[in-house]
Amino acid sequence: MLTIMGATGNIGSKLADRLLEKNQRVKVIGRSADRLQPFVDRGATAAVGDAGDSDFLSQAFSGSKAVFAMIPPDYAAQDFRQYQNEIGRQIATAIEKSSVSHAVNLSSHGADLSDKTGPIKGLRDQEQRLNQLDAVDILHLRPTFFMENMLMNIDMIKNMGINGGHIRGDLPFAMIATEDIAEVAAQHLLELNFSGKTVRDLLGPRDISMEEVTRIIGEKIGKPDLPYVHFSREEYINGLLQAGLAKDMAEQLAELDAGINDRLFGSGEPRTQENRTSTDFKQFADFFAQVYQS
Ligand SMILES: NC(=O)c1ccc[n+]([C@@H]2O[C@H](COP(=O)([O-])OP(=O)(O)OC[C@H]3O[C@@H](n4cnc5c(N)ncnc54)[C@H](OP(=O)(O)O)[C@@H]3O)[C@@H](O)[C@H]2O)c1
Repeated sequence: MLTIMGATGNIGSKLADRLLEKNQRVKVIGRSADRLQPFVDRGATAAVGDAGDSDFLSQAFSGSKAVFAMIPPDYAAQDFRQYQNEIGRQIATAIEKSSVSHAVNLSSHGADLSDKTGPIKGLRDQEQRLNQLDAVDILHLRPTFFMENMLMNIDMIKNMGINGGHIRGDLPFAMIATEDIAEVAAQHLLELNFSGKTVRDLLGPRDISMEEVTRIIGEKIGKPDLPYVHFSREEYINGLLQAGLAKDMAEQLAELDAGINDRLFGSGEPRTQENRTSTDFKQFADFFAQVYQS
């Protein structure tokens, strides 16, 4: 049995699809039986519950040879790193108590850095926590900035006629499609070809700037003159607060974007066979346009 956390999310859903296509025994974890039902209809077992409950997670993991582990984002958390560490402890306890021999842990590019990385700091904590588990082989996937993050800007594009953020418009940086992360996770879960504690960066096909991203999106949605606006830290945080994010989360995301602007991580890294993935933003933009029009 292969068990997937976050099975209704960006990566987990595509990972579940791939493993079910390969006729694997799959267990999908989430908080809603209804949202998991499409996977159950295709043969998966559902485990419905909250990742903050280690008894639930231990039960969900038991009988699995391998798990895909991730800390789901909670944009309302008052202290995001503390929230990540609480969930992270439940995951580590559940892995330890269950019979799991291999875990693919969703971390992030930048998790090698101890500071100035915003929400990635909690993922670094989790890597270090899981590395203490002696009996389990663990691969930490470190994907860069998701192309899917652009979907959160759809309301801004529709209501304000701009694309914008705190990342500098002219700075090329690494972006990845979540389907490519799912593909890599699926390969590792099928082959269990990792041992000890290892990491793998995933950087997408090339660096790309927000100005180019905005041009591509604009052309796909019939707004070729869509501008990219570089918000100051204050403007960006205020926008996120208005969108309902907790103050700490907004500040963490601003810190992450400042880290990208300062080229602490995420840009200028050479691609290798190991870290390069194939989907270009131009391909992702077709999906963006579909969501935009729907
Ligand atoms: N965005 C980026 O650029 C980026 C880059 C690198 C790493 N990351 C990391 O990637 C992860 C997010 O991955 P994603 O985008 O695939 O996830 P996502 O689309 O945000 O999905 C989250 C999943 O977790 C489930 N979930 C939420 N809260 C839960 C809870 N309390 N208990 C159990 N399940 C819960 C959700 O399902 P239900 O709602 O159905 O329960 C959903 O399936 C985060 O850890 C983030 O830090 C993000």
